[in-house]
Amino acid sequence: MKAITVEPKKPGTARLMDMPEPDLRDGSILVEAIAVGVCGTDVEITEGKYGWAPPGQSHLILGHESLGRVIDPGTSTAFKKGDLVVGIVRRPDPVPCPNCAVGEWDMCRNGLYTERGIKEIHGYMSERWRIEPEYAVKVDPSLGLLGVLLEPTTVVTKAMEQIGMIGRRSYWEPKSILVTGAGPIGLLAALSLKIWGISEVHVLDRMESGSKPDLVRELGAIYHSGRVADLNFEPDAIIECTGVGQVIADCIHKIGASGIICLTGVGQGGAIGAGVLADVAAAAVLRNNVIVGSVNANKRQWYRAGLTLAKADRAWLAKLITRREKPENFMHALERKPDDIKVVIQFSEV
Ligand code: BGC
Repeated sequence: MKAITVEPKKPGTARLMDMPEPDLRDGSILVEAIAVGVCGTDVEITEGKYGWAPPGQSHLILGHESLGRVIDPGTSTAFKKGDLVVGIVRRPDPVPCPNCAVGEWDMCRNGLYTERGIKEIHGYMSERWRIEPEYAVKVDPSLGLLGVLLEPTTVVTKAMEQIGMIGRRSYWEPKSILVTGAGPIGLLAALSLKIWGISEVHVLDRMESGSKPDLVRELGAIYHSGRVADLNFEPDAIIECTGVGQVIADCIHKIGASGIICLTGVGQGGAIGAGVLADVAAAAVLRNNVIVGSVNANKRQWYRAGLTLAKADRAWLAKLITRREKPENFMHALERKPDDIKVVIQFSEV
């Protein structure tokens, strides 16, 4: 079968190649791929900066934002032929650490977890894939292709849960929540916040025109372009989705007293001096701020993300998928164009 693979840590090795049919050890459910979303992590892997092949193999099948159709449910009675499914990304470490032992693999303590399409297990960018019933999530059939947005929605669902849990350390009634970055994660965060009942949702992005401002306004949220430093309010919480150092620094200065910043973007940059860090720490101490990182998602968050997407306006969600590429054009899918929000590689029709 055809699969999009990479030799991890070797830039420029991504290609569409023939790979053996999926191994029964990957799971009893056989799935035909419909689409796989492309995200920054995939780009990093193809650039040789991230990613690990399965032990003893040189190639990793890419892809962790999946959508497929069950061809054969195997021994599982919970799934039937034709069901639309998405595969969970992370698997618990084998030790297991206490968090993985209780199903909170997203909070793995020893780093020995594995991730499909990212770390030591093949991903979903292949014509067919297998999945264990306990890691397959059924999607509302009325979502169709939009089910491919489930994985990024799980990432924001976890971030929101983290904010809620931390917020409840004291009286917590958030009025205004800011999302920085109007890419797929930021827009799905704004959508989720609105669906979860937050009245005042702000989204900030550098784009002044294009579809992003309209998408934000259509949700009933408020769009800002420019700098966080120039906002005329102090958010109760911020979901930071850019990973850009200056944006993060501005968020730290802007967050309200007792407010929480949840970092979801993975950026890079130079070291900061100890003195600057002490100033940041002092401000956080004196205003009871929390800066928390959030990655991946557990099964509860996958379930909740599914509920969010099921409630979302289909026409709005459809506007997030700005490009569909065929597997043979996967290199185009990995390129970022100015108007792109979510690009998907489509293997078959829904
Ligand atoms: C994925 C997560 C994963 C993280 C780190 C993200 O792109 O959405 O599931 O845990 O990368 O590998």
